[in-house]
Amino acid sequence: MAVALFDTATPLQGLRAQIDERIAAVLDSGRFVLGPEVAAFERELARYLGVEHVVGVANGTDAITIALRALGVGAGDEVVVPSFTFYASAEAILPTGATPVFCDVDADTANVTPDTVRAALTRQTKAIIAVDLFGVPAPVGEIGEATGVPVLEDAAQAAGASAGGRRAGSLGTVATFSFFPSKNLPCFGDGGAIATDDERVAEAARRLHFHGSRDKLSFEQAGYNSRLDEIQAAILRVLLPHLDEWSAGRRRARAFYEEAGLAELVSLPAAAEGLEPAWHMYAVRDEHADELIAALARAGVEARAQYRTPVHRQPAMSQWGAHAALPVTDQLARTNLALPMSPVLTREQANEVVDAIRAAVVSGPTVKSAPTTTAAHHDA
Ligand SMILES: Cc1ncc(COP(=O)(O)O)c(C=O)c1O
Repeated sequence: MAVALFDTATPLQGLRAQIDERIAAVLDSGRFVLGPEVAAFERELARYLGVEHVVGVANGTDAITIALRALGVGAGDEVVVPSFTFYASAEAILPTGATPVFCDVDADTANVTPDTVRAALTRQTKAIIAVDLFGVPAPVGEIGEATGVPVLEDAAQAAGASAGGRRAGSLGTVATFSFFPSKNLPCFGDGGAIATDDERVAEAARRLHFHGSRDKLSFEQAGYNSRLDEIQAAILRVLLPHLDEWSAGRRRARAFYEEAGLAELVSLPAAAEGLEPAWHMYAVRDEHADELIAALARAGVEARAQYRTPVHRQPAMSQWGAHAALPVTDQLARTNLALPMSPVLTREQANEVVDAIRAAVVSGPTVKSAPTTTAAHHDA
């Protein structure tokens, strides 16, 4: 592919020697699990986010399950969750014993809002999962204020974003991260974290991620073996100082797309005033998304539909999703296509992508009317 969907390798190139050195130091230390690298990374990520506590865990899915349980979510409770997200956002509710209740999202931002969440609230609602989808912070604080229900911010896609000067991952009662290799802050395998200002939630998460034990002697509840390991933490400590420059690169890439005239061709994702998204994905919308993806592939540009089958329509979720009416989710699922995005996407690459879209639109199956997009504001 001339322009790939992700470029995970280029941003790391100059850091290889430092990473190798830190991995070698861990191998020499003989400490592989819950040692000084994890403790230091937890402190450094907490400082970066501006939160009191971070607990490293094995992946972003466990992070959600453990954070929900730390909030006291269990059997008989309901957790509101968007359906237009990666499957794990909802899947992670099930091990707590609670029931997922799917809500819709805003048509412009693709994120949950106080209104979309309110439609799914019942007396059983114990928590709300607000996903910072595609790296754009959801209105987490507003949802918490409007509902009075604890909000878990699923920031798996949003490391490096901020809202009103506060980091994504510090906006709710508790937040969760994934460090999967394609994420904004990647490690070289699986990894995740839970971030919170609430000492009781942090303490519960710390106990739960280690078999429900504080001291390895007394086991107070059935928990999980879910730990970030020392090698991944050592790598993450090398990468975290570069996260802001990478996020700026993603915003620059978005500006390149818009300056190349993308808005004349397809509908662009919007981000509300005051947000600094860390565009994990740059997902535009088009009524002929699949034809466009195929035409781009022929032109050497990799684009991908995200969540074509939204979570509430997945077979494993039929029990909870079959009766949900989520028209915006269905529309976004049908029309979105993610374009190449990375911290190092160049103006030339953005021009190539936009030229390929222009060529496809001009010779496409139907003559399109001008795309409708609202308030696509520039944050870069
Ligand atoms: C929004 C969202 N939530 C949760 C996850 C789960 O993270 P992980 O793959 O580390 O378990 C991911 C990514 O995979 C994600 O994109």
